Amino acid sequence: MTEADFNFLRLLLHLRSGLSLSPEKRYLAESRLGILCRRRGIDGLATLVQMLRPGTDAALENAVIEAMTTNETLFFRDQTPFELFRNVILPERLALNAATRSLRIWCAAVSTGQEAYSVAMILDEMAPRLAGWKVQIVGTDISGEVLERARDGIYSQFEIQRGLPIQMLLKHFQQNGDKWQVSERLRAMVELKRHNLLEPSGHLGQFDVIFCRNVLIYFDLPTKAKAFEAIAPRLAPQGAVLLGAAETVVGISTVIVPDRQHRGIFRSRDCIQAQPAAISLPVEPVRAAGGSRF
Ligand SMILES: C[S@@+](CC[C@H](N)C(=O)[O-])C[C@H]1O[C@@H](n2cnc3c(N)ncnc32)[C@H](O)[C@@H]1O
Repeated sequence: MTEADFNFLRLLLHLRSGLSLSPEKRYLAESRLGILCRRRGIDGLATLVQMLRPGTDAALENAVIEAMTTNETLFFRDQTPFELFRNVILPERLALNAATRSLRIWCAAVSTGQEAYSVAMILDEMAPRLAGWKVQIVGTDISGEVLERARDGIYSQFEIQRGLPIQMLLKHFQQNGDKWQVSERLRAMVELKRHNLLEPSGHLGQFDVIFCRNVLIYFDLPTKAKAFEAIAPRLAPQGAVLLGAAETVVGISTVIVPDRQHRGIFRSRDCIQAQPAAISLPVEPVRAAGGSRF
């Protein structure tokens, strides 16, 4: 691939999806887009770029973006965010949303669905507490291909073995040959939609919890900041954001900030500012004039 063609593809990917492709990733582009060309009967990368240059073939642009995304995921990936979700965030939301009895969770780069189904399995454990509640898990991704796989909820033995506890496998999956399918009940809890994190997301509504994990690592700093700005308005008051194990907002975002009390949870800045300051007891006991004795 020529330097000019590679630079064109880098720009296209960056503008349309936020993905930042460093010059060292040229081999990756050549290999992944080479496969795309062969599948579509395009006679090489130069022709592919020529077809993309007018900017009129949105379907082909999407195919290029899909080919260049990394969709690696697994059930209960990194564990800690799911423990925070189960032990800190859910009890908090059960109290905060007691009046509305509704709970909305967004998996903002859901890939093939394991993250959303992990959330669904945790919520299923809490079914007695959530009786009568309206619970919604929305999984979105820029790639239509992975969303199709997430919708089917069919996983290989290898995918099942990665992170899924055996009791959960037995409870929520049906075996079909060498594949396993998520139960219809869990699939019905998850709504899957195509959405680009850099585009306005008002139509998705507000969420109590947003999982935005292992996607911003592929973006450069200004694009990460832009993505945080796009998701911040989607957070319900005192809502929580969970990021990937290696991800942070520190030095990147001023709208989403770390929760001072719970490492690994992030909140909207406005919600942190609205938190009452910690009450510190005065050193000397204060006597109220004419007050009663205790
Ligand atoms: C590595 S997977 C992460 C999956 C899951 N969140 C996890 O942590 O296991 C990254 C996903 O982000 C998606 N993605 C990349 N750019 C995106 C964008 N601009 N908007 C939405 N999704 C995007 C990719 O298609 C891919 O499925």
